[in-house]
Amino acid sequence: ARAIHDVFRPIVEARYEGWHARGQAPHRDILQSLIEAKHPETGESFTCNQVMEQVSTIFLAGHETSASTMTWALYMLAECRHIQDRVRAEIAAVAGDAPLTAPMLKEMGQLRNIFRETLRLYPPVSFLPREVTCPMDMRDKHLETGSMLVVAPWLTQRNKDNWACPHAFDPDRFDDPANADMVKQAWFPFGRGPRVCVGAGFAQQEVMTVIAAVVRRFALSVPPGFKPEPISRLTIRPRTGMPLLFGAVGD
Ligand code: HEM
Repeated sequence: ARAIHDVFRPIVEARYEGWHARGQAPHRDILQSLIEAKHPETGESFTCNQVMEQVSTIFLAGHETSASTMTWALYMLAECRHIQDRVRAEIAAVAGDAPLTAPMLKEMGQLRNIFRETLRLYPPVSFLPREVTCPMDMRDKHLETGSMLVVAPWLTQRNKDNWACPHAFDPDRFDDPANADMVKQAWFPFGRGPRVCVGAGFAQQEVMTVIAAVVRRFALSVPPGFKPEPISRLTIRPRTGMPLLFGAVGD
């Protein structure tokens, strides 16, 4: 935490001072909205330290999760050349050679399904701990107040009772009306309820943009014989990294 704070402190302090002392707002970004935020009841602003804490949380929650998703999505596309070629065609049809914009991403349904299917197979947050708040029975178990429950997207999203061919990478399943219920009940890489990820929309745009930018320029393949081993280290990562080959499109 100290190392992270040391990186952010000079940036946050300069921006905080700039706004509160001189009304300066050099960027319209998440940091600026935190600096300007006011408590809905008391009207108070965050202190500089509180902004630091918020920035650190967003950094921690937001960068490795998205990086993990990009890593596994590029791997799946490298494994499945037909899906890679199809999505490259979609990106070309929507965007041509122009820089990518948010409205363009909205028209890239296949790319969005690749994002969702990657999160189904490789949810970066593979399990979520929860505390039981009142005594209850669940299945054949009695749960006492204060017990810990683990909800695991990794298991639920790969369970054959929920998804057909659960270990297969099949982005089109998200377009199948027969799966509509399971998308609601058995797909929750961003959690659920009051603590659901606040960055889900941001993550979707960020990951889709990066994948589109890579795939439109490079043909990806997996080095012969390489099979990544997923391990849970804060997020789901490939144990020995993810070496992928970047070739010219059309080769
Ligand atoms: C694909 C990428 C992402 C995944 C899979 C993901 C997943 C999650 C999950 C599962 C939770 C809930 C944890 C729990 O219930 O215990 C969560 C919370 C959170 N996420 Fe994300 N996240 C992603 C990207 C982001 C991004 C990009 C940001 C910020 C820009 C972000 C900010 C947060 C914050 C601040 C929380 C805590 C919310 C709260 O407790 O009120 N996340 N995320």
